[in-house]
Amino acid sequence: MSLPIAIVASGNGTNAQAMIDLMKQGVLDVDIRLIFCNRPNARVIERAKAAGIPWQMEDHKAYPSREAFDAVMTEALKKSGAELIVLAGYMRLLTSTFLDAFKNRVINIHPSLLPAFGGGVHAGPDALAHGVKLSGCTVHFVEMEVDSGPIIIQAAVPCDAEDDEESLMNRIHVLEHRIYPQAVQWIAEGRVHVQGRRVSVAKADRKLAVPGENSLVWPPLEEGF
Ligand code: GAR
Repeated sequence: MSLPIAIVASGNGTNAQAMIDLMKQGVLDVDIRLIFCNRPNARVIERAKAAGIPWQMEDHKAYPSREAFDAVMTEALKKSGAELIVLAGYMRLLTSTFLDAFKNRVINIHPSLLPAFGGGVHAGPDALAHGVKLSGCTVHFVEMEVDSGPIIIQAAVPCDAEDDEESLMNRIHVLEHRIYPQAVQWIAEGRVHVQGRRVSVAKADRKLAVPGENSLVWPPLEEGF
């Protein structure tokens, strides 16, 4: 049976789109039960509509507190039957109410090689300002402390003095759209094991994807991703 998941997003939704596309191609074995969004004009809503996926928008500004908003979000996600909550560009802090309801079942993607440049919403520009030579993206389990949970997969990309935010983020996004669905697929296949901070992915009889030029992904991507 396909893994029932819900995607929680605030903005453009390109990561959500990558999962929709791979699900429709039969590569990603999930059933996207709900796309939940906290911003009225977010493009991700149009993507959900276009794909015929159930969606729900709750403007967080209409709620008196973070707790009140998270309670409504938790209820919607529970009702959807999702067993994995996929944060894809969700730009709000989470309460313990929400995380306790989905213990060890919430994952996130962040546009840096965590723990570098975690905890903020400007990871790309911050990395450029620091002058790093490698940047990238990380998929991790979510814990109370922002961007801190056990890491499932990371991709590294080069970072040049000539880069600006757009060029670096474009490079990172290409890899986000590959490593995030791959991490979800490993979870769907029951191959992800967490021991403390250490995450392992059980080997399976799969061909590996052809490695991209100028990037390093670990664990390696499998065919289709
Ligand atoms: C992605 O780059 C993701 O890594 C980042 O937001 C973007 C969402 O893009 N997430 C964070 O910064 C979380 N702290 P998308 O809406 O096109 O998927």
